[in-house]
Amino acid sequence: MIKIDPKTVPQRTLYNGDKIPCIGMGTFGSDRFTPEQISAAVSGAIKCGYRLFDCAAVYGNEAEIGEVFAKAFAEGEVKREELFITSKVWNNMHGRGDVLLSLAQTLKDLQLDYVDVFFVHWPFANYHAPGCDGDARNPDSKPFNPEAFIATWRQMERIVDMGLARHIGMSNMTIPKLEAVLPACRIKPSLIEMELHPCFQQPELYDYCVERGIQPIGFCPIGSPTRPDRDKTPDDIADIQVPELVEIAKAHSVHPAVICLKWAVQRGQIPIPFSIYENEYVSNLKCTTEDPLSDEEMAVLKSIDKNCRLIKGQVFLWKGAKGWEDLWDLDGTITK
Ligand SMILES: NC(=O)c1ccc[n+]([C@@H]2O[C@H](COP(=O)([O-])OP(=O)(O)OC[C@H]3O[C@@H](n4cnc5c(N)ncnc54)[C@H](OP(=O)(O)O)[C@@H]3O)[C@@H](O)[C@H]2O)c1
Repeated sequence: MIKIDPKTVPQRTLYNGDKIPCIGMGTFGSDRFTPEQISAAVSGAIKCGYRLFDCAAVYGNEAEIGEVFAKAFAEGEVKREELFITSKVWNNMHGRGDVLLSLAQTLKDLQLDYVDVFFVHWPFANYHAPGCDGDARNPDSKPFNPEAFIATWRQMERIVDMGLARHIGMSNMTIPKLEAVLPACRIKPSLIEMELHPCFQQPELYDYCVERGIQPIGFCPIGSPTRPDRDKTPDDIADIQVPELVEIAKAHSVHPAVICLKWAVQRGQIPIPFSIYENEYVSNLKCTTEDPLSDEEMAVLKSIDKNCRLIKGQVFLWKGAKGWEDLWDLDGTITK
């Protein structure tokens, strides 16, 4: 296996001065891979030099990944403090006290004393069963409610006070939602996880976070070519087939996926690509250490933004909602 010295992988600095690698590995198998396959990839990724892993309770594989972490620590392959491990509270665990319960389960599964970041996975308690059909609706689902979110955030702040999470973060937010909740945060989010790839650059949300010292972390950085069918619509654009991007990939003799990641890192977000294949996850990490894109190439990639959101979240819609757009406050106010 090709090994990349983690010291050669660039780092970002969070607002309190803590460092985090500029790239990590995602662990959501899009319903295609078993927890064993994914944890084997995490094991290989640690050996190859990854130090950041994006986990979540709802991915259903934290116990298997925890086995890998425990073995890596026991065998002296890596120290706990060298890894940056994230996890997330799922939508059915937002209630008072439930965040702590959710984190307790995650820590037990991951065999850790603390996580480096704990995220609120989605900004509302709208639950749906993992793997359910795209048309599935939960009759109890409700639009975003700032008071309910802040009640959840108070629990998140408490886990920082308790030393169980070094940082807390939000995910799948919009500017109107952030405007509603950031002033009430005693502890500001260090990171916000959002969908980011060349055809969905979210420049306003990205800039909003950066201006406030919040580090964006980008999911689906390659445009999630193998996401579940429930997350696909006929209008979706495949980033890795966009001619300008393919052209740049040819010039660098790499797969277009690698260009998506180079662009992400050079722009400033932290991409968290997923792959169980060694050749892919090695090249995904290696590409951050060599052969950067030119300013001209970065400008071309900036110009291919198509505002093409892939993870639309329609299963979280509430009764009376018109469509997935309602989740994303497209008219600049919180959709009720
Ligand atoms: N916060 C949230 O709500 C949220 C939502 C979605 C995802 N996420 C996180 O983001 C992570 C990444 O998202 P994602 O898995 O949907 O999308 P992605 O990383 O954009 O795409 C993953 C797919 O890209 C292909 N790929 C990866 N590296 C490649 C390479 N070097 N060359 C060619 N193909 C390559 C692989 O396809 P093959 O398997 O066919 O090789 C892989 O399955 C997830 O695992 C999860 O941790 C978070």
